[in-house]
Amino acid sequence: MIKGKTAVIIGAQWGDEGKGKIVDVLSENFSIVARYAGGHNAGHTVIIGGKKFILQLVPCGVLRDGCCSVIGNGVVLDPMAFLKEVGTLRDAGVKVDGNLFVSNRAHVILPYHRMIELAAENAPGRVKIGTTSRGIGPAYEDKMGRRGLRVADLLDLKLLRKHIENACREKNMIAHALFNSEPLDPEKMYHEYAAIAGKIAPFVRDTATFLHNALKRGESIVFEGAQGTMLDIDHGTYPFVTSSSATSGGAVIGTGVAPTAITSVIGVTKAYCTRVGEGPFPSEIHDKQGEELRARGNEYGAVTGRPRRCGWLDLPLLRYSAAINGVSWWVVTKLDVLDELDEVPVCVGYKIDGKATDEPPAQGCGYDSIECIYRKLPGWRTSTEGITEISKLPARAKEYLKFLEDETGAQVGMVSTGPGREQTMLVDSFNAEMESLTGRKTRLTATP
Ligand code: IMP
Repeated sequence: MIKGKTAVIIGAQWGDEGKGKIVDVLSENFSIVARYAGGHNAGHTVIIGGKKFILQLVPCGVLRDGCCSVIGNGVVLDPMAFLKEVGTLRDAGVKVDGNLFVSNRAHVILPYHRMIELAAENAPGRVKIGTTSRGIGPAYEDKMGRRGLRVADLLDLKLLRKHIENACREKNMIAHALFNSEPLDPEKMYHEYAAIAGKIAPFVRDTATFLHNALKRGESIVFEGAQGTMLDIDHGTYPFVTSSSATSGGAVIGTGVAPTAITSVIGVTKAYCTRVGEGPFPSEIHDKQGEELRARGNEYGAVTGRPRRCGWLDLPLLRYSAAINGVSWWVVTKLDVLDELDEVPVCVGYKIDGKATDEPPAQGCGYDSIECIYRKLPGWRTSTEGITEISKLPARAKEYLKFLEDETGAQVGMVSTGPGREQTMLVDSFNAEMESLTGRKTRLTATP
């Protein structure tokens, strides 16, 4: 019998909504934080001891005493990136031993995945996705092609050698034939990975069983989404997507917990919209206002440093996101970035060929014919910095949030106005729901 309660935290847009901070704030009361998709293409910015950390693979729960972190089977793990991150955390005095676990079924990213991705992205005639060049897509391709290496296999050195030899033979031939790439040396690769297998081993577990047992004991789990709904391999703006299930359903497949074990889904959305990389973006701003939002919101990719494209809040997109994920609550981040605007345009509907629609096109090129219908809401022109209660927000900021709720059918449970834990406002009913999941109220402790 499952006694424990769970919440999934997903990005409602194209990633970078600020999920890291939200998971960090909420993980105070959850026993376990579990990642279920993506790899070190994600970048969750968290501040520890006044120092900025960009967590790419390790779930944010690692920063909370008494909270365990799990990297689920749905994640693709670059062992070198993982060990580097673990090293940085250890150096900063963060505990990672005995509280951080990696699924034995997660797939491993190897150097040929990066080689193929880099070559393919730059090859003539290919659709450029603008990936993070971390080998994520090719690693998932191997997983689905049933020729991947899983973490359990990485620890089995005989199998590892055979796998690397076979894979390198195949990948070197393909990369040379298609992209004229220099071949990778399998012997060198084997020795590099065999040398670190022992360092990965202490973290490895059957994490699905670990999570089941925790739920049976009545412990609470928060699933930390990576990327965002519109980057989901099935539901996003294909082919300009990542290669995993970034939506809430991914939490089930990517960790091995049952769908019936999901209690609540929390959708994180910026008060506006951003996207990195190529692909459709209906509410993108192409003039000076876009640059101003980028400057005010410091909109540069956490992983690649690329400038993010900026746009207005897109309500048809959020309605879609709410439906696909089953969003029960919104967390609205970066509200302060809009503080100085006289009026705030919001995309309230799409028109395609003159007809109103809420249905996102199945084809990437279908987005070209979207005409956004905008409504301008009055700006609040007051700083929201330092406000810690939603009731104390300027009236027009509250109206903006209410408009979002009315137009999407889900309630705003939390609002964030900066990177610190204390720059967060909680709605009482949301906090009550979190209390019903974890047995405790969330306190907004100051950033240590
Ligand atoms: P990939 O995940 O590296 O294959 O990149 C595919 C697309 O997803 C590219 O447009 C990336 O910019 C985007 N992407 C991947 N991870 C993130 C993220 O964490 N935040 C925002 N965009 C991302």
